[in-house]
Amino acid sequence: MKTIKKKLNIVLLGPPGAGKGTQAQILIEKFKLKLISTGDFSRKVAQEKSPRGKLARESLASGKLVPNKIIDDYVEEEMKKVPLKKEVIFDGFPRDLPQAKFLENLMKKLKREFQVLYIELTPKEAIRRLSSRKICSKCNLVFKLEDLNNKNQCPKCKSELTKRFDDNSEIVRKRFKEYLSRTKPVINFFKTRSQLIKINGEQSISCVAKDILIKINN
Ligand code: AP5
Ligand code: MG
Repeated sequence: MKTIKKKLNIVLLGPPGAGKGTQAQILIEKFKLKLISTGDFSRKVAQEKSPRGKLARESLASGKLVPNKIIDDYVEEEMKKVPLKKEVIFDGFPRDLPQAKFLENLMKKLKREFQVLYIELTPKEAIRRLSSRKICSKCNLVFKLEDLNNKNQCPKCKSELTKRFDDNSEIVRKRFKEYLSRTKPVINFFKTRSQLIKINGEQSISCVAKDILIKINN
């Protein structure tokens, strides 16, 4: 494989079910990146008995974004802990224009460059994939029902696999609505800054991964 020339801080954007979590795992294995997943964080906060826990629960249940202050504070705190030589992958952040500007300023302050990968997928295929998704209740790894051979156990940590509660059709519809109105403008924001790398998500997992490796090497 060619040497990686660019800085590998990566932002993964795309609609629900695009494969952000799946590709993040592949890139983490390969390049030992630090994962910042605002979706995993939101689901963790939603279990807290605290005012922010209540806000997160309500947002997740209605397919809406968790309030920016909760998310931005988390991202900033996590970034403070990462040693400078360790590179970072953001899964599902930023999700609206204020978050995109927040990230841009934060990364400038930390003197870190980043690339934005936009995984494109039709809503039809994304919905199909979400309906057969299983996740590990402990390590958050993501699987396809068809690959599991009827086993309900995480191949990595052996914990139970579950369905994500926001993968029911009503919440999925709302998540798409939120994506179109709030996250789509983020794509244009990075496009105008020539930071956007488009990835065809309508391929097998390994082909998407290959595509990403080629494009982040260019
Ligand atoms: P989040 O967890 O980020 O959900 P999402 O954006 O809706 O995306 P998903 O995780 O559903 O899909 P994915 O793109 O990761 O696909 P995956 O790899 O799993 O956010 C959830 C909620 O948290 C939000 O609604 C919001 O409330 C809150 N939140 C999160 N971030 C926030 C933020 N920044 N600000 C405010 N609120 C925030 O793949 C899906 C399935 O497809 C899997 O089964 C997988 O195995 C399969 N698959 C993947 N790739 C392929 C392929 N190429 N071919 C076939 N199958 C594939
Ligand atoms: Mg995900």
